[in-house]
Amino acid sequence: DKHLLGLKGMSESELESILDRAAYWEQYPQKVTQHLQGRFVANMFFENSTRTRFSFEVAEKRMGLEVLNFTAAVSSVQKGESIYDTVKTLESMGIDAGVIRLKPNGVLDELARHVRIPLINAGDGSNEHPTQALLDLYTMRKHFGAVRGLTVSIIGDIKHSRVARSNLWALGAMGARVKFCAPDAMQAPELAEYAPYVTMDEALQSDVVMMLRVQLERHEQGMLNSAEQYREGYGLTVERERKMKDHAIIMHPAPINRNVEIDDELVEHPRSKIFIQMSHGVPVRMAVIERSLT
Ligand code: CP
Repeated sequence: DKHLLGLKGMSESELESILDRAAYWEQYPQKVTQHLQGRFVANMFFENSTRTRFSFEVAEKRMGLEVLNFTAAVSSVQKGESIYDTVKTLESMGIDAGVIRLKPNGVLDELARHVRIPLINAGDGSNEHPTQALLDLYTMRKHFGAVRGLTVSIIGDIKHSRVARSNLWALGAMGARVKFCAPDAMQAPELAEYAPYVTMDEALQSDVVMMLRVQLERHEQGMLNSAEQYREGYGLTVERERKMKDHAIIMHPAPINRNVEIDDELVEHPRSKIFIQMSHGVPVRMAVIERSLT
């Protein structure tokens, strides 16, 4: 049994083996398998989610697991119970694995040292979101045939983005080149040694243009002057899309702020993989759950 806390330090062969297994599950003809029947998994979301939570639940049900959904907002967390005590409580009831999303950085590593069950990171503060990056890699590999040799621009709120970090580590391990583009206030200087910050014009000249959501909930007030100003400086507008290479694709982990970081017309544009990325969340999470439970 294994945790999946992050992709930093994961080898290319391990990343490829998860993607290969996801490809198997994507092709699997039957809707439900009894592969992991009789085992229990708890989805523990201490922060809101739509895609990650539901694609984990679909993946778990497709594997024949018994699924418990824990939502902090309607739990004893509201009476002051800690994250640690909550996870220990579910563990004591006999769950076999936990999928967990947390707001504060640093808590997940500590938790993983104190529980016996495997924990799967479903979003850890601004640290890592490994299953999102795995589904992003899966989408790139499926579209281009390989990740090695690709140039990927990650544009937007790098400072607060766990998606940017997980992609940075995994893309590097798989032989892709990452470029960042962000306004000063959204840069993460500690990552500059791994990926250069480039201008918007330069960022558009990549094989993959990955837009990030402006995380209004993680910004101090006043940091973001206006949505319109952001769009003008760093949004993927219809005008900027025309400067992209003919073969290049658009990605975004979603949820999307339409007409802020990406124009409404581009969300379902032929170049856009946004909803295809989401569909890959299910087979990728099947592979990840299987890895933790077998
Ligand atoms: N991409 C992503 O993690 O979306 P949710 O926050 O809706 O899970």
